[in-house]
Amino acid sequence: MPDGLKLGGGNGICQIGAMRNDIERVLIDEAVIEKRLDAMAVAIERDFPDGTLVVIILLKGALVFAADLLRRISRPLEIECLNVASYHGGTRSSGQVDFLDRHFPEVRGRHVLLLDDILDTGLTLHAVGARLREEGAAAVHAGVLLAKDKPRAVAVTVDYVGFEIGDEFVVGYGLDYQGKYRNLPFVGVLKAAAGSRSYIADPGRPFL
Ligand code: PRP
Repeated sequence: MPDGLKLGGGNGICQIGAMRNDIERVLIDEAVIEKRLDAMAVAIERDFPDGTLVVIILLKGALVFAADLLRRISRPLEIECLNVASYHGGTRSSGQVDFLDRHFPEVRGRHVLLLDDILDTGLTLHAVGARLREEGAAAVHAGVLLAKDKPRAVAVTVDYVGFEIGDEFVVGYGLDYQGKYRNLPFVGVLKAAAGSRSYIADPGRPFL
């Protein structure tokens, strides 16, 4: 049997186990996320005008959230991605939102659903929302998996929020620390010392 078909073995699983060991506590587990996404999908389908929905996914953090949310929507979709960054792998916003793509999606006259993983300072959604309106979008509705309960650096309106969380640095379910942990299936808080670890498989540790 090819390696990819084996269940319960292989390096990938051991390495997820090692990443799990860097988590101080699970904040939102997979089952809770899934249930919340069901409700968010219903609200989005209810609110958007009939017809094709234009969705813009902010890379890279919103990839996992968007993939799971959009599969719950039965409406025809056009999916675009925008590569923007302001944290550059660290735990604090640089304060500057960089658009990393050479091309911007065509949104003139369209109702856009803008998806991001987390609302923190608000700078990212503010900058992208402003750019979408400049490009002629008829309406921009934002949805995030997580919103930190803290004052924003700029005013932003978010139409769909999965969960409100405290002001702590979280990883998993798309969110990273220095590019890692995005593939954890839950949202968790990183142990303070985890930043310097490397991910060497340890077969003795249980999977998740
Ligand atoms: C993170 C996150 C959001 C943004 C939220 O992006 O994915 O896009 O910051 O923070 P804000 O409200 O303070 O702007 P990051 O720059 O880490 O890029 P990534 O999505 O590729 O991880």
